[in-house]
Amino acid sequence: MLARPAQWLEERVGHGRFFQAVFLRQIPYGVHWWYSLGAAALFLLALQTVTGILLAMNYSPTPERAYESIRFITAEVPFGWFIRGLHHWGATAMVAVVLLHLVSVFVLAAHRYPREMVWLVGVVLLLITLGFGFTGYLLPWDQKAYWATSVGTNMAGTVPVVGPSLVKLIRGGAEVGAVTLARFYAMHTLLFPTAIAGLAALHVVLIIFHGVSVTPGEWHVELSPVPGAPPEPPSRDTYHPRYAAFKAAGPRFWPDVILEDLRVALVIFLLLVLLIVFAGVPLDERADPTDTSYIPRPEWYFMALFELLKYFPGALEWVGVVAIPALLVALLVLVPWLSHGEERRPLKRPVGMALTVALLVASTGLTVVAYQATPPTKVEEGGVVLTSQQLRGRQIIQQQGCRSCHVIKGEGDEKKGPPLDGIASRLTAADIHGYMENPKARNPDAEMKPLIPPLSHEEVEYVTQYLLTLEETVTP
Ligand code: HEC
Repeated sequence: MLARPAQWLEERVGHGRFFQAVFLRQIPYGVHWWYSLGAAALFLLALQTVTGILLAMNYSPTPERAYESIRFITAEVPFGWFIRGLHHWGATAMVAVVLLHLVSVFVLAAHRYPREMVWLVGVVLLLITLGFGFTGYLLPWDQKAYWATSVGTNMAGTVPVVGPSLVKLIRGGAEVGAVTLARFYAMHTLLFPTAIAGLAALHVVLIIFHGVSVTPGEWHVELSPVPGAPPEPPSRDTYHPRYAAFKAAGPRFWPDVILEDLRVALVIFLLLVLLIVFAGVPLDERADPTDTSYIPRPEWYFMALFELLKYFPGALEWVGVVAIPALLVALLVLVPWLSHGEERRPLKRPVGMALTVALLVASTGLTVVAYQATPPTKVEEGGVVLTSQQLRGRQIIQQQGCRSCHVIKGEGDEKKGPPLDGIASRLTAADIHGYMENPKARNPDAEMKPLIPPLSHEEVEYVTQYLLTLEETVTP
């Protein structure tokens, strides 16, 4: 018995059978490098895990120490700057690759029978990935981290009924503080890693079980290039024999296809290194909760949502914060049921492709507009640094077209309403606020319409705060 230790171990552990099933499996005929996106996501997950563990060894999740520990990692720990850079840009790459993978799977109709569960697990993986991004953003405890999280968590407050309790639950207090940091750190390093490890494993096991999907083009060719495949058009009944024929004619995962995957992973890794070297790894000033003049902006993948919110001011904000994102997630979850025909070629699925293009154009457009509209993190006007609230007020004035009746900062139509420059010398904050909410209460003949609705009381206050900064315009 001891003469054949390899077989002894194989009978008890089954490593050979495992290797056979995972590495020697065949990949269907016609699959190419574009199919490596999923593997690229897996590679990035591994990279984030390794760099994340290394960062955690020197990071301290408290408001007093967090920022200094990041500085310490960057400046003192050998290769700390590089590890942090990989983790920073790796996060961005992971979101990008996961999104690309999702779009690609839908376009190639790889979510169809029998892979519906693979898609659903993938949707949850995407949400966890975004959760990682959101919680990780706070950890450096710099200005950007603090204020973006402050705004981001504040959004939960717009959820009808439970909003305020929700904000308190997420923050662990009224403001973003020590408890928020502890909670985000726990989610980022305990909850999400556990969840993503289990679900990514399930995702991979299901893919190995069902096999990689055949490309739509090959799947639908009239005269199948592989021997023994049941002819076109494929149906659910002939799916399995047809797939088996494609698989039998394809290459092995090891060593053929895995090389392709590794090559894509290497390209991504080199891109990350280039980003670290040429774009750098941002770290703002230390978070200052009293500095309300800081204008935060979220990570690029939340910018579209951030922009969308501006179209739902005041009492309608929850539509942008909750309803539309929930609708999008519901749409993703329902994809296997909404899109389940036999036709897999993108060009023959006009509705699905039109919807995909529309969603991509809309989100890209919103992102571009968001970047154009978001001012630099500090804005000076007439020598004063505007607070983020005053800036929001300035933005509302722009959107609401107040200049069609008022001169503001020397610009606008002076015929209809009084100039608002220098208004602070005439009216108090309370008067301005009260007037804008109800012009007729102070002047029964007022031509101006009240600012509410659709603006909330807070937003009217932001406008008021901005108006108070306006100096008298000197007329020559
Ligand atoms: C349709 C034209 C019109 C538009 C648009 C308009 N206003 Fe007015 N506003 C007036 C007129 C006219 C008055 C003064 C007389 C009155 O009460 O009718 C006035 C008065 C005011 C006053 C009081 C000024 C004072 O010195 O008493 C404030 C403040 C004000 N507007 C702010 C705004 C803001 C902010 C906006 C944009 C959200 C805006 N207005 C849009 C016409 C307009």
